[in-house]
Amino acid sequence: MARLIYHGHSTFTLETADGTRLVIDPFFDENPRTDLTVAEVEADYILCTHGHSDHFADAIPLARRTGARLISTFEIVSFAETRGVENAHAMHIGGGFDFPFGRVKMTPALHGGQVAGDDTGAFTTVPGGFLVHVDGKTVYHAGDTALLTDMQLLKGAVDVALLPIGDNFTMGPADAVRAVEFIEPEVVVPIHYDTWEIIRQDAQAFREAVGARARVEVMAPGDSYDV
Ligand code: NI
Ligand code: MN
Repeated sequence: MARLIYHGHSTFTLETADGTRLVIDPFFDENPRTDLTVAEVEADYILCTHGHSDHFADAIPLARRTGARLISTFEIVSFAETRGVENAHAMHIGGGFDFPFGRVKMTPALHGGQVAGDDTGAFTTVPGGFLVHVDGKTVYHAGDTALLTDMQLLKGAVDVALLPIGDNFTMGPADAVRAVEFIEPEVVVPIHYDTWEIIRQDAQAFREAVGARARVEVMAPGDSYDV
């Protein structure tokens, strides 16, 4: 059984039954929702959905210190390699790969393509999300995205959906409810909200709006959930 540990915003550690640690969208040092610093975090793999700093800022220092393998789009990996990240696996939207811990597939996301830290502007990426199959379960991290009709293709294929509800930069609660209707996951964890005033949301109201469509697990930073 895998365990999801929430660090606030869109950042999770997904720890598999055999102890492999996947850190998704590492955002620690500038994340007002966690007391953890990136210097304290351990990882075997780092997954980045896109290049914005609130998902990618700590990926390079984490990869360099731990030697964890960075899994992201070709463009983000190419940029990270220019900053001293040697252990990386480039993939792209629609592609899947069987890693030792399980299968990862990148899904589409509709969002911005900047790669934080690239002062030249030479590296931009199509943002994505991840379907992570571990220990017999499938976790969907949507990344930052608008509601997409493509999410209908995930119907019945997701056990735990990590969906942004913050509005402004991503879908808000009403569209996230529609995403739940599209995907029909067993469990939904709202993410990408309450980090700053501009994305303040009422997670309990979201839970009520989802109603019987899925079980909503509202996680506080530091909480863990057995997938
Ligand atoms: Ni973003
Ligand atoms: Mn974001």
